[in-house]
Parts: sequence; C-alpha cells; structure tokens
Amino acid sequence: MLRIAVLASGRGSNLQALATAIADGHLPARIVGVFSDKPACGAIAFARAQGLPAVALAPRAYPERAAHDEALFSAVAAVQPDLIVCAGYMRIIGAAALERFEARMINVHPSLLPRYPGLDTHARALAAGDREHGASVHAVIPALDAGPLLSQVRIDVRPHDDAASLAQRLLPREHALLVATVGLIATGRLRLFPGHVEHDGQRLSSPLMLGADDRLTGA
Ligand code: GAR
Repeated sequence: MLRIAVLASGRGSNLQALATAIADGHLPARIVGVFSDKPACGAIAFARAQGLPAVALAPRAYPERAAHDEALFSAVAAVQPDLIVCAGYMRIIGAAALERFEARMINVHPSLLPRYPGLDTHARALAAGDREHGASVHAVIPALDAGPLLSQVRIDVRPHDDAASLAQRLLPREHALLVATVGLIATGRLRLFPGHVEHDGQRLSSPLMLGADDRLTGA
C-alpha cells in the first residue's frame, strides 16, 4: 500500500478527491499525514475531521524559510511516506527539503505546463487567447513548476469563459487527473527517478493524457 503524505495550503479539494478514491477502493494507497503552512485551512480541517494525522506550522513562527521547511519536512519524514503529493501547497520548497525527498514528490498545477508556471494560470490562459487549458502533474524540482511532467488533462476554453468559470470546470478534471496519476504510481506502472519518469519501464518523453474515461494513456 502506497503511503502518501499530502501538502496543502487551501480548501483541500484535491486532498478530498484522493481520500474519496481510497475510501471507494479505487486507489490502493493510504494517506499517512496531511501537512500545511496554514493552520486554519480547509485541508487541515478535513484531515482532522477524518482522523488523519495533521501537522500545520505557520511560517511566522520560524526565523527563516529554511527553518520552517526543516520543521515541516521533518514531520513529513516521520510518517515515512513513499510519495509526497503537493495539492495546492502554495509555498516554494527549499532545495534542502527537496533533496531529502528526491524523486518522491509530485505537484498538481492548474495549467498545461510548461505554459503558465506560478499563479493566476486561468486568467493568463484567457489573456493569451488560448483555445485549450488544463492541468498537469509533475515531479517537484527546485525550479518552480518545472519538473518532469507525468500527466495532463485538457479542457476547451469556451467563448464566454472567465477565470472563475474556467477554474470551476477544470477542478473536477484536475481531481480525476491526480487520482489516476497517483493510482499508476501506487501500482508501480509510473515511477519517478531523479530527472525523469518511467511508464511501464519506458522513459516518458511526453506526459500521459487523461481521457474522458478518466484513464491515462501515452501520447
Ligand atoms: C488547485 O487548483 C491546484 O492545482 C492549485 O491550487 C488549487 C488547490 O485547490 N495549485 C497551484 O496553483 C500550485 N501552483 P484545493 O486546495 O482545493 O486542492
């Protein structure tokens, strides 16, 4: 059973999607801890309500970024995760913490990377006149939103979309993407290595794509 630690800063809908898939028997994994920089966030409230181990450390209690990272990631290490899932964790993670968990950390990001790393992805896709938008799951490396891609899901941009409508339509697809991607990791079909990802033993050169049937397939 894959042991997952989830990092989150916000409402926690991706965390809930993982927890629901596990409870429904669709994902052979166990959430062994939920970790946050925001003690009052929805993800931590959900974790506590579910009886999941939850640790939230506010950065202002620490003299510098590295000290906060060290405290939070020591708590993560203590639950001995096989995989760390960043599900809306909105802080940049320092190189020391990343080294400690090399090739064991993934992030879900609301854009078709490499387009729009960082914030405001929906508004930026609209401003650029994109016809397609989507979400990506990638391995976490020190450069922001730039690690090897594991998987993506695409949605059409509609003529009257605004950032809110686009975000709302993308979110359930993002949840399905994360669940399917973690599922392939849990069954050993998708494996992370330093600097690359393998699918069924082959080096992945382009991300797996999520179909309407919620399955991931190669390009
Ligand atoms: C998600 O849309 C996730 O892709 C995004 O934050 C949201 C968290 O929602 N992550 C990033 O922007 C990371 N760069 P949630 O708390 O409901 O899962």
